[in-house]
Amino acid sequence: MEKYYIKTFGCQMNVYDSHRVAGILNNLGMCEASSIRQADLIIFNTCHIREKATEKLFSDLGRVLQVKQERAAEGLDTVIGVIGCVVQAEDDQIAKRAEYVDFALGPLTYHRLPEVLAKVARRRGQTIIDTEFPAESKFDFLPENTASGGCAFLAIQEGCNNFCTYCVVPYTRGIETSRPVFEVLEEARKLVGEGVLEINLLGQNVNSYHGEDEQGKERNLAYLLRRLNEIDGLERIRYTTSYPADVNDDLIACHRDLPKLMPYLHLPVQSGSDAILKAMNRRHNAAQYLEIIARLKEANPALGFSSDFIVGFPGETDKDFEATLELVDKVRFIQAFSFKYSRRPGTPAAEMPHQVEEKVKKERLDILQDKLFAWQLKFNRESVGKTMPVLFEGKGRHPGQLTGRTPYMQNLYAEADRGLLNKIIRVKIKDATMNALSGEIAER
Ligand code: 5AD
Ligand code: SF4
Repeated sequence: MEKYYIKTFGCQMNVYDSHRVAGILNNLGMCEASSIRQADLIIFNTCHIREKATEKLFSDLGRVLQVKQERAAEGLDTVIGVIGCVVQAEDDQIAKRAEYVDFALGPLTYHRLPEVLAKVARRRGQTIIDTEFPAESKFDFLPENTASGGCAFLAIQEGCNNFCTYCVVPYTRGIETSRPVFEVLEEARKLVGEGVLEINLLGQNVNSYHGEDEQGKERNLAYLLRRLNEIDGLERIRYTTSYPADVNDDLIACHRDLPKLMPYLHLPVQSGSDAILKAMNRRHNAAQYLEIIARLKEANPALGFSSDFIVGFPGETDKDFEATLELVDKVRFIQAFSFKYSRRPGTPAAEMPHQVEEKVKKERLDILQDKLFAWQLKFNRESVGKTMPVLFEGKGRHPGQLTGRTPYMQNLYAEADRGLLNKIIRVKIKDATMNALSGEIAER
């Protein structure tokens, strides 16, 4: 049986895509290799969001060429493929810098993998590239999504029409498309039937979801959440990532009404400065963001927020940066992702004047992260002594341990029997660091 190895870079959407690609390959009679050295087919699923992620691909490809040569010396053939956002943005670079790559497929064309692999078999030595934005939806061609534990990702929407001036996503994932309601519900029910307890709805801008229902009527994310909330056996619902200006009353009400919707929301703000938000082409200012947070908290006081931040966007002054720090103290994020601005070719911000020096970016990132980490630690410490439902997802580092997640996405580890894997169990929190909680099983 032929074996495949998939290495995934970047966001949760890429993790989801890799899972679906594995589904295609399993359907073709292949199985997962235990190491890259054992693999007849090696696939890199790539990320283009920041420069570092892209460069990592080319250094990894160099190493894979070595694996290919070593295997060739033993008479073994290795097919190398690259998929994901780097392909969409830099297909010519891949063919130029790594001519030994057999195929390169964009994020919207990986459902064509079976045909592409058949072509590769006939046309060795030539890179097959497919970066079309196809008319068809890949979801109509993929084999059914399968569960691989108690948690599953489910893509409901893809692409983005927001065109934030720093971001490559509208160019790599294309404009927004939503999957129809019935298709999402069907996939969710199938996953639940296979033991999934938690579904995380994915998309670059999930809260602008506008899929058609069974009668052809356009529906929003709130509608979809309400329908999902009715699925027996599904215990937890999350969704990510959302755009602040698209949070509407309907969605806010879901956080009040739906018991299965987890009290954790990732709502990227990027900056606390109105001038920078404007230059980023965001459709919200700092006050509007804070108002949305306040309304969400009013709907559900237990809600915890997470966010993304960019420091050192072109033109960002000390005062702009101060405004970001102030916003952090107002919201008290329980988790956050923060990045130095990375100049992406082809995006408007790359050409803006007053690019910020690397040294200043680094200083600002350190200061911001100190603050974010302090709030995160405070929240985790306040969890100590509480009892929380934890979905155990995997084995811990030490024998006899399992790891899982609380409703707030906190990592937790506890001494627990393997039989508790993929179950939701009440755990009493005993200790907390910034990155994890530890606890004791509070129920039998
Ligand atoms: N530089 C730095 N961070 C970026 N992000 C997107 N584009 C860039 C860029 N050019 C960040 C944003 C986004 C997250 C997924 O990545 O914060 O929300
Ligand atoms: Fe990129 Fe902005 Fe769209 Fe998010 S909302 S994917 S940051 S363009």
